[in-house]
Amino acid sequence: MLGGCDAVELTKTYGTPLYVMDEQKVRDAMRAYRSSMEKYYGGNGLICYASKAFACKEMYRIANEEGLGVDVVSGGELYTALSVGFPAEKIGFHGNNKLPAEIRMALENDVGRIIVDGLGELELVDRIAGDLGVTANIILRITPGVDAHTHDFIRTGQIDSKFGLALETGAAMEGVKAALKAKNICLKGLDCHIGSQIMDVEPFVHTGEIMMQFILDIKNETGVEMEELDLGGGFGIRYVGSDDPVPYDSYMEAVSEGIKAFADKHGLKTPFIFMEPGRSIVGEAGTTLYTVGAIKEIPGVRTYVSIDGGMSDNPRYALYQAKYDFLLAEKADAPADSIVTVAGKCCESGDLLGEHVKMPMPKTGDILAVLSTGAYNYSMASNYNRNPIPPVVMVRDGASRVIVKGQTYEDMARFDV
Ligand code: LLP
Repeated sequence: MLGGCDAVELTKTYGTPLYVMDEQKVRDAMRAYRSSMEKYYGGNGLICYASKAFACKEMYRIANEEGLGVDVVSGGELYTALSVGFPAEKIGFHGNNKLPAEIRMALENDVGRIIVDGLGELELVDRIAGDLGVTANIILRITPGVDAHTHDFIRTGQIDSKFGLALETGAAMEGVKAALKAKNICLKGLDCHIGSQIMDVEPFVHTGEIMMQFILDIKNETGVEMEELDLGGGFGIRYVGSDDPVPYDSYMEAVSEGIKAFADKHGLKTPFIFMEPGRSIVGEAGTTLYTVGAIKEIPGVRTYVSIDGGMSDNPRYALYQAKYDFLLAEKADAPADSIVTVAGKCCESGDLLGEHVKMPMPKTGDILAVLSTGAYNYSMASNYNRNPIPPVVMVRDGASRVIVKGQTYEDMARFDV
């Protein structure tokens, strides 16, 4: 059952592969973040949904209804947010190489904050803001030098990163001084993001303290006190039963305490805080449903169970060896007494969704559910092998509705000349 809907019935109505999102879970996660901001930080902040995790019009509408801001990372995400009337002042624009046209688009639409990633971009934003006759409200992305324990591809806080201005090298302080001098820029504060799918509180608390120390250093050196601190996202979720994520409240409580204690001790104001959770808002709300097709048993080697999607709708095993829990929708309670490899239908040996997967032995035609696929699945889907990207259905209280239509073959050929 997903959001009160029978999974097998959903596949009869919408076909497979099918992305299913549980609306209540999404809203509950958003509310949990908001209420923890109230409870532990007096509401002096804004939770911005990191929409790269799952971007579509309905998600921006829901984030808006729930009183969140959003983080966008491209003209495409910005366009989609604005297209449903998302309040521009609650949008933060990230990215390590924003295009001049994207910066112009952000400024023309009065986006709340541009998170400037480097010295070159600072000049570019200043110049474009000057051309438009506006002042750009920016936050500077800092690389705090925290090495969070997660997959190499999704670590971002360490010095060797394409993102941000490093503290250690002095680039961060240089960036701050340049921003304070720039004519068409108003420097509001600092940003950092140490990585994704992080399961401990400690690296976040540590990062908060490093950033507060930098706010103090900036005050001592320039006399200016930064008013805002964006702590990024990265909070881990449960992918498999053995994952034990920390509740959002604990992150917020520990990080808030650290920041408030530092501010009190050093006579700083407590900054307005932004947090940018993506995965932890949509990840566990999503389930992907497939139909089992070919089953190939290689005696003494392994059994391949192929499904009607694959790396084109979920590239995360191929990219990060990400682990998932798998269930057969009609045999959810049957003992998981077989070990199989779940393979996709793309023409590529690495197109797998999982290896050493324990489940009841499936048969062709069974519906296979892959859990916790709400984040970075639809948003990273591709048309590899010209497989159409599946539809996304939102479920709630036993009702379902399509929020993203499935592609047709004609859709995929539309841009061919
Ligand atoms: N803020 C910034 C600046 C980010 O770069 C990210 C993620 C987030 C917030 C949201 O992080 P989250 O709360 O979702 O962990 N494709 C990868 C994840 C890449 C994350 C990129 N940045 C995956 O599938 O695991």
